[in-house]
Amino acid sequence: MTTAADSPDTNTDDCTIAQDWEAYCDRDHATWRQLFERQSRLLVGRACDEYLAGLDQLGVCADGIPDFRKLNDVLGKTTGWQVVAVPGLISEAAFFGHMAERRFVATRWIRSPEQMDYLQEPDIFHDVYGHVPLLTNPAFADYLQAYGRGGLKALRLGALDKLARLYWYTVEFGLLHTPDGPRIYGAGILSSRGESIYCLDDRKPNRIAFDLKRILRTRYRIDDFQETYFVIDSFEQLMSETAPDFAPIYRELAGLAEIEPGDIQPSDTSVGGSFTDRGSATKMQKKGRG
Ligand code: PHE
Ligand code: FE
Repeated sequence: MTTAADSPDTNTDDCTIAQDWEAYCDRDHATWRQLFERQSRLLVGRACDEYLAGLDQLGVCADGIPDFRKLNDVLGKTTGWQVVAVPGLISEAAFFGHMAERRFVATRWIRSPEQMDYLQEPDIFHDVYGHVPLLTNPAFADYLQAYGRGGLKALRLGALDKLARLYWYTVEFGLLHTPDGPRIYGAGILSSRGESIYCLDDRKPNRIAFDLKRILRTRYRIDDFQETYFVIDSFEQLMSETAPDFAPIYRELAGLAEIEPGDIQPSDTSVGGSFTDRGSATKMQKKGRG
């Protein structure tokens, strides 16, 4: 956990700090503009409608880094969520605690011009451009709050390694099935130029229908594009399938083997083209790469 005792505007009770919007320089705003323009062109026909509507509604635009006070005006009137700035990594308990209270924790720094394509840690472009628009959607807003409560519970039960996979494969890297084909709703994809293309257009990754227990068992990669994406039918489905008590599920899964990121299970339902269409050559290649 990063403490920010040296930062004068730290609120020591809840780890939040002021965004200090006035402190951004022209270069910071120019970086946002460049990222925004590039990504917004790309996401037409790729991002789900709910996300694009949220972007519009919040007035997130190319002008420059959004001011959290303005975002919060709109969010307050739509789903009651708020965006709060934090100095960097905070404890899991603080992260889930905020989420359970409908506060989305965001970073306030923006990447440098040399980091346009790849970042290890989230910056404000990932957090705000990627995550915040969907907070205007009532079903997604409820899901994320429920996740926050579930996070606090998983912490108590020692099951966070399992639950973290659900966040990863939905909130960060989720796809949504629509009549027009799969669309992106995961923030990790929405803020990444390369993965926005890869996750939909490339033949390599698996696209598998949402399956809660399957996801809780599946490890994930943090250093490369995902090998598997899980596709939901609707945000309502996400909400209803995660509504049951997870405590017995965690106990059940404790005895089962984990699934590697690229592996396919007999019970998997492929979305948009069967696994066998792609032939065993793909699988062999994957093994070859180690
Ligand atoms: N139902 C889950 C539990 O009992 C909580 C949860 C909801 C977790 C939604 C994730 C997402 O732990
Ligand atoms: Fe994120």
